[in-house]
Formats: sequence, C-alpha cells, structure tokens
Amino acid sequence: MTIPVKNAEGIARMRAACAIAATVLEELKPLVRPGVATQDLEEAGRAAIARLGARSACYGYQHGSRRYPAHTCISVNEEVVHGIPSLRRVLRDGDIVSLDIVVWHEGYVGDNACTVPVGLISPERARLLQVSREALDLGIQQARVGQRIGDISAAIQQHVEAAGFNVVREMVGHGVGVRMHEPPEIPNFGRRGTGDRIRPGMTLAIEPMVNAGGYRTRTLEDGWTVVTADGSASAHFEHTVLTTDAGPEILTVPRRSGV
Ligand code: MF3
Ligand code: CO
Repeated sequence: MTIPVKNAEGIARMRAACAIAATVLEELKPLVRPGVATQDLEEAGRAAIARLGARSACYGYQHGSRRYPAHTCISVNEEVVHGIPSLRRVLRDGDIVSLDIVVWHEGYVGDNACTVPVGLISPERARLLQVSREALDLGIQQARVGQRIGDISAAIQQHVEAAGFNVVREMVGHGVGVRMHEPPEIPNFGRRGTGDRIRPGMTLAIEPMVNAGGYRTRTLEDGWTVVTADGSASAHFEHTVLTTDAGPEILTVPRRSGV
C-alpha cells in the first residue's frame, strides 16, 4: 500500500483537525485528579470536541462487529489503550491515566494521546511516563525526509528497552488523514534502515505504548480495553506529525489563539 501524501489543502485541514485534538487533550489534563471518574473526563471531552466544531473519530468506530461506545479513550494503570470511560472507574492518588483523543474535522482526522499522573505517583511510574514521552520525541526526530519508517521504530524501541521497559507489539502507530488509520504501520519496534522511505507531506501518528513489565497484552471481555498481560502499568504518548523538507512538524499542538 502506498503511503498517502497530502497536498497543501489536505495539510491545512490536517492542521485544523490536529489543533482541535490537541486543544481537547490540553483541556482534559487539568481535570485529572483523585475522585474524578473516567466518565467525567469523557463528558468534558465530548463537550469540548463539539464546542470546537469537530466530531469524535472514536465514537462508533467499528472493529469487527463492535462499535466503540464513547467519544474518548481513557485507560488507567495496566490499561494500555481503548479504555472505555465509566462512572465506576474513579481515579485514585498514585494512578496514571492515558487520554486518547481522535477527532474528525472537515474530512480529516487528528490523533493524539498522553499519560498523566493522578496526584502523587511512585518514582517508578514517573520514570515510565518520562521514558515514554522521551521515546515519542526520539521517534518524531527520526521522521525525516529520506529516512525510513524503521528508523522511527528503532529509536523508540532502543530508548524504551535501555530503560528496562518494553514496547507493545500488538498495536502500532499509523498514517492518519482522511481516515484514522492509513498506511504505513509504524511499529514501536524494528530495525533502522527498514520499511518505507519517508517523503514530504506524510502525516504520521507516532504513538509508543510502553509497559513497565512484559510487552504482552490482552483484550478484556468488553471487546475494547487492552491491558498488559502481567498487570504492569502502561503509558501511551502520541502526536500526529507532518513530514517536511525542513524536518518533522508536530501538528497536534493547540492554536495559540485557541482554535
Ligand atoms: N488512537 C486510537 C487508535 O489509533 C484511537 C482508537 S478509537 C477507538 O487506535 F474507537 F478504537 F477506540
Ligand atoms: Co493513533
């Protein structure tokens, strides 16, 4: 499958969609504290997406015969991704919580995620967040015209494993544009110099998912929530990035004046 390259119009629309996704994520972060239910974050996210004139790309997203039932993905502790918000899941001091926001706006998708601490977290969990965030930055730095997708993958894997953590294998980053998932797949593990060559105008969702323990995962009976197989904590950071001749540009940043 060839990797879509966006023209100026597509890039402008990607900028708008990604700015909205980033603004929603920024609005949710300060709401995270002990006593808040993940459903509270869902409701704030749903309202923010609507206020900014976008639609959730998660709500109704089809996988097999199932449709995702919420507008946000909120994953706590050992939940890796695709946690379904719930009134029963109340955040506690020491938890970590991943917020994943994907929006549609004027035919284009913006996708971003981050993991934040709830109250005071253990030093080991703080290190997990820091290393995962750094792995995303190192992956983004490899998204250079002329390099290959495997260069992104290898940079992420190397940093995570050097810290004693593991990257999830069953799910990968992806191209993003007129659909949430476009070619190429962007694994968080791999070898330098392999995979498709990066060209200008690609929009890539780079998203390390990092487990404090082993890399294996399983999906809960709800059909969506992915958890670590060994119950260890997991972190997830994601940006949508535009490749340009001048280097990678992170699109999932809020507009300075608001959106
Ligand atoms: N960022 C997630 C992904 O790329 C969002 C999925 S939305 C859901 O897979 F509907 F699948 F939850
Ligand atoms: Co994604």
